Amino acid sequence: MNVFLTGVSGQLGRALVPRLVGHVVTAPSESQADVTSPSVVDVIARAEPDVVIHAAAYTDVDGAEAHPDLAFAVNARGSRHVAEGAARVGARLIAVSTDYVYDGAKPTPYREDDATAPLGVYGRSKLEGEREMLKVLDGTLILRTAWLYGRGKNFVETILRLAAERDELRVVDDQVGSPTSASDLASAIVSLLAIPCAGVYHAVNSGTCSWYVFAREILALSGLERRVVPISSAELKRPAPRPANSVLDCSKLRSLGITMRPWREALVDYLRAR
Ligand SMILES: NC(=O)c1ccc[n+]([C@@H]2O[C@H](COP(=O)([O-])OP(=O)(O)OC[C@H]3O[C@@H](n4cnc5c(N)ncnc54)[C@H](OP(=O)(O)O)[C@@H]3O)[C@@H](O)[C@H]2O)c1
Repeated sequence: MNVFLTGVSGQLGRALVPRLVGHVVTAPSESQADVTSPSVVDVIARAEPDVVIHAAAYTDVDGAEAHPDLAFAVNARGSRHVAEGAARVGARLIAVSTDYVYDGAKPTPYREDDATAPLGVYGRSKLEGEREMLKVLDGTLILRTAWLYGRGKNFVETILRLAAERDELRVVDDQVGSPTSASDLASAIVSLLAIPCAGVYHAVNSGTCSWYVFAREILALSGLERRVVPISSAELKRPAPRPANSVLDCSKLRSLGITMRPWREALVDYLRAR
């Protein structure tokens, strides 16, 4: 298959590349294919892909509050450009979105048809991107994921860095979700290349925890004894509000034959490989 990948230097992009062996892959850097520029439509069309995997995004959740124009340029208009490129050559589009499209007020796991109500700029820009892509290209597949970690800047690396600097860590305990390995998400995406499906799907590792429990598990699996103090989101005072409940029901994905393993198992593999 001829695959065009955006976001190759990101956590998900890096995890995808080795899993796409056997396919012809075009994976330009941001400078070669800036999605905010309409010229990216031609860049995609020239590659004549069968599939476009759109993993590029502006992912700085707090930064988006200060730079909403940039967040919308990349996540909304940029996603539209990517869909236009795919549409021009009749390619399938698989794009990645986020749990932050929900407000987190639901007491049970979110299903794909639950109402969206993003709390911040990042979530709003990603939701607008979803809508733009679905408008431009009917058969677009959108995978909403959450709490992603891979090679790059992420929660696991932050906890390990903080553990090297101090004896006590303060971690939020009032947000729950499913830590998701970029490698596992990449494997799910590669499986989906062979499965005809469209619309919105959730894709996260199974099981749930709070950031506090996640941090404790990272430290325990790394053999690091540190005091971890559970705190509230309010105490952390971050610019962007986060959903309290980021738990995503993946039964729609499972109905396609794709089951993502428990988050702890994936974390063990990540820590072993780093
Ligand atoms: N990280 C999470 O916790 C999380 C949670 C839920 C959903 N998601 C979604 O999952 C997907 C993958 O996220 P990730 O963690 O892999 O993101 P990431 O590590 O921040 O990587 C983002 C990628 O997008 C590229 N990019 C940014 N602006 C661009 C532009 N204007 N044109 C072209 N490329 C651009 C970056 O290139 P440079 O490196 O050159 O800037 C980088 O390769 C995204 O759709 C994200 O919204 C992530």
